[in-house]
Amino acid sequence: MKIFLTGGTDGIGLSALKTLLTSGHQLYVTYRNSKKLEKIKSSLRVFYENKKLSFFECDLAEPEDIDKTIAAIKKLNIKFDCLINNAGAILFKKSFNSMGIEKVFATNHLGPFYLTNSFLKENFINRGGRIINVGSSAHQSAVLDFNNLDSSNSRSWYERYSRSKLCNLLFTLELSKKTSNENIQVNCVHPGIVNTNIAQEHKGILQFIIKLVLNFKGISPAEGADTLVYLATNDTAGNLSGKYFIKRKQAVPSKEALKHDVAVRLWQESIKILDRFFS
Ligand SMILES: NC(=O)c1ccc[n+]([C@@H]2O[C@H](COP(=O)([O-])OP(=O)(O)OC[C@H]3O[C@@H](n4cnc5c(N)ncnc54)[C@H](OP(=O)(O)O)[C@@H]3O)[C@@H](O)[C@H]2O)c1
Repeated sequence: MKIFLTGGTDGIGLSALKTLLTSGHQLYVTYRNSKKLEKIKSSLRVFYENKKLSFFECDLAEPEDIDKTIAAIKKLNIKFDCLINNAGAILFKKSFNSMGIEKVFATNHLGPFYLTNSFLKENFINRGGRIINVGSSAHQSAVLDFNNLDSSNSRSWYERYSRSKLCNLLFTLELSKKTSNENIQVNCVHPGIVNTNIAQEHKGILQFIIKLVLNFKGISPAEGADTLVYLATNDTAGNLSGKYFIKRKQAVPSKEALKHDVAVRLWQESIKILDRFFS
């Protein structure tokens, strides 16, 4: 399979990358940190040299970067069997992308939304293909505020993050309807509480506490990657769409994540934000 993976340079994504490569799949991975890229290239040299592994520089919080990635893929004339929207961030300090959109929303929802829609528009995904969105059980407590969709007014980092993860579920729900005619399956995964470097962008007491919790309570990145690898490659899993998975099993998301009107509105508002930027 040809698999496009975002956020394959660390944590769950890096672990999924290694498993998928060793199972014989061809991987196309986004990165934004050149040091990490060089380290991965050297540790996975055999795959890189045999053209089983390629990289695209892309900050998913920046739609212009996504456009560059799309243009690069077009030149290479590749079609994928699977797109894994894994990249994600927890940021304790509010920060904004070049459009003035809060970065957690921009990275965790708007970027994957724009990337995925661009893939579909350019016909980059084969019929029978799969899209996997990496969400989180953190969505359970979240409710979107359409007067402040990027949560830039919110003082709580957890609210900003959990809302962005609710967006992953709602996006999965609506996208699965839109892609059903093309026979493309779309699902969302909660990887578990995983011992990764998430939330380590800046150093501080909160980062320290989160690291401790993940160290003591978290499963390994390989265990965290298991369900998304399963959804990407397993034949049975390929028949389901619009679903939420935990530990390889279908799970029930929050009531909010199942509201079609909210999913439709999120879609429309996301398009409006992007249109404003590109007009
Ligand atoms: N860890 C958990 O307990 C947990 C629980 C539930 C859900 N999740 C979800 O799992 C996914 C992966 O998280 P993780 O725990 O593996 O975190 P991680 O170790 O921090 O890895 C995150 C990956 O996303 C990339 N990334 C972050 N912001 C980006 C941006 N603006 N543009 C492009 N790439 C970006 C990172 O790139 P760099 O290498 O450049 O930083 C890295 O490759 C996320 O969607 C997260 O919400 C994690």
